[in-house]
Amino acid sequence: MRVEVTSEPLGETQADLEAVGIFEGEELPEALRSVEGAEDVRATFRKLTLLRPGGDRRVLVVGLGKRGELGPERLRVAAALSVAEAGRYDASSLAWELPDGHPKSGGANLAAALAEGAVLASFRFDRFKSRDPEDPSPEKLDRLVIAAGSDAQEVGHPVEVATIASEAANRARELQALPSNVVTPTYLADRAREIAAAHDAVGAEVMDRAEIEDLGMGGLAAVARGSAEEPRLIVLRYEPTEAGETLGLVGKAVTFDTGGISIKPAAKMEEMKMDMSGGAAVLEAVDAIAELGLPIRIVACVPATENMPGGSATKPGDIITQLNGKTVEVNNTDAEGRLILADALTYCVRDLGADRVVDIATLTGGVLVALGSTYAGLISNDDDWAERVRSAAERTGELAWRLPLHPEYKDLTRGSDADLTNASAKRKASPIYAGSFLEEFVDAKPWAHLDIAGTAWDVGRPYVGNGPTGYGVRLFVALADELAAS
Ligand code: BES
Ligand code: MN
Ligand code: ZN
Repeated sequence: MRVEVTSEPLGETQADLEAVGIFEGEELPEALRSVEGAEDVRATFRKLTLLRPGGDRRVLVVGLGKRGELGPERLRVAAALSVAEAGRYDASSLAWELPDGHPKSGGANLAAALAEGAVLASFRFDRFKSRDPEDPSPEKLDRLVIAAGSDAQEVGHPVEVATIASEAANRARELQALPSNVVTPTYLADRAREIAAAHDAVGAEVMDRAEIEDLGMGGLAAVARGSAEEPRLIVLRYEPTEAGETLGLVGKAVTFDTGGISIKPAAKMEEMKMDMSGGAAVLEAVDAIAELGLPIRIVACVPATENMPGGSATKPGDIITQLNGKTVEVNNTDAEGRLILADALTYCVRDLGADRVVDIATLTGGVLVALGSTYAGLISNDDDWAERVRSAAERTGELAWRLPLHPEYKDLTRGSDADLTNASAKRKASPIYAGSFLEEFVDAKPWAHLDIAGTAWDVGRPYVGNGPTGYGVRLFVALADELAAS
C-alpha cells in the first residue's frame, strides 16, 4: 500500500473515502462542521459512521472515545476498522485527517500508528482460493493519505519507517501462513538470498546439512535428523557504511513441529506450520532495516528445519553436543526450539561478532497459558538491554512482559548424565526453563529472549485479526532505529 503525507486539507486529497476522528464530549473538528448529520454521530471508540457531505464525497466519522485515552494503539485499531469499511464501499484510496490527540501521544506517533494499522489491516492470504469468475474481486485499498496539516513535515519520516516496517511484517505474515509443504528451510534460505540481492549492504550465507554437522551444530543436526527435508542455517549480514555496534538477531524457524518422537497430539497440529514465525520476523526485519538504511550493523542467524519422527530421528535420552561444546540429554524431542537456538546463539555471538543479541521464538505453550496473546514473554540477563527491548515493544504495540531468571530455575536444566537436559518431566515454569537453557549459549553477552508462542498467531486485534501477526518485525525495526540513534 502506498502511504502519503500531505499538508493539503482532506477534501483536496482525491481519495475515494475520507476519514475523520471525533472525540466524546467535544465539538466537531472543522472538517465536519458543515456536514449534515455529523452532530448526531456518537464518538464511542470503535464506532464508524458514513456520511455524504454532497457531490461524490464520502466521509467516515470514526469514534475515538475520550481524548485523554487516545494513543497509538487506538489509532492502529481505528485505522484497521476504517480499512475494513473501505472494503465495503469498494474504495481504493482512503484519506485520514490526522487527529490532534492527547498531548502525550505526539503527532508523529499517531501518524505512524495510522500507517501501521492501515497497512497491517490490508494483509490478505487468499492465494490458494479459486475465484468465482461471476463474482469480480472487490476493489483493493492501495493508497492511504494522511492529511497532517502543519505537522506534515514532522510526521514524514516516522510514517515512512512505519510503512516499510508494516509491509515487512505483512511479508513475514505471508511466510507464517504458508503451509510447510511450501515454506521449507530451503524456501526460507531462498528468501534470505533474495533479501541480500535486493540490498548492496546485505550478504547471505547458507549452510546445508553436511556443513551444519561438520561445524558442530549438534542441536540443529539432532532436530533435523528425522526429516527428509534438508535443514538450513541461514545467515544475513547487514553492513551499512556508517555503523556503531553490532546487533545480533536470532529467530527459530521450525517449518513444521510434529514434536518428533515425542509426538504431539493430532488436534490443532496443523498450527505448527507457524513454528518458523521467529525466523520469518528476523529475515523480514533485516529487509526493512536495510531498506531504511539504518546505520547499525546487524548479524542475523536463522536455524531452519522440520521436527519430524522417522527412522533416523533423535530419540528421548539421546545425548548431543552443541556448538559451544556443552552436552545435552534430549529427554523430550518436542523441546526442539532451544536446541537449534542454542547453536544459532553461539554462532551469532562467537562467530558473527554480535555485541548484544535478541532471539525470538515460538518456544513454549506455557507462555500462551501465562500471558495469552497480549504480551510476549521477555527473558534477559541484562536489565538495561531488557528495558530497551521492552520499550521498543511498547512503542510498536507488540507488547513484551519480563519474566525472571533465578538459580533455582537454572538447576532444573541440569542433566543427570550430561551438562544439561532440554526438558524436565515436571514442566515447571516452562518459558523460564527454556530461557535459562538458552542463557547457557550467549557467552555472557547482553541477551534478550522473546517467547512469541502466544503472540505470533490468533491475537484478534482488529489490525491483525485471527491468524499470523508478524510479531517482532516492527519491534526489531524500532529497536534498530533506537540503537542507531543512541
Ligand atoms: N513449538 C512449540 C511451542 C508452541 C506451542 C508454539 C504452542 C506455538 C503454540 C515448542 O517446540 C514445544 O513443543 N514446546 C513444548 C516444550 C515442552 C516439551 C518442554 C511445550 O511448550 O509444550
Ligand atoms: Mn516442539
Ligand atoms: Zn517448536
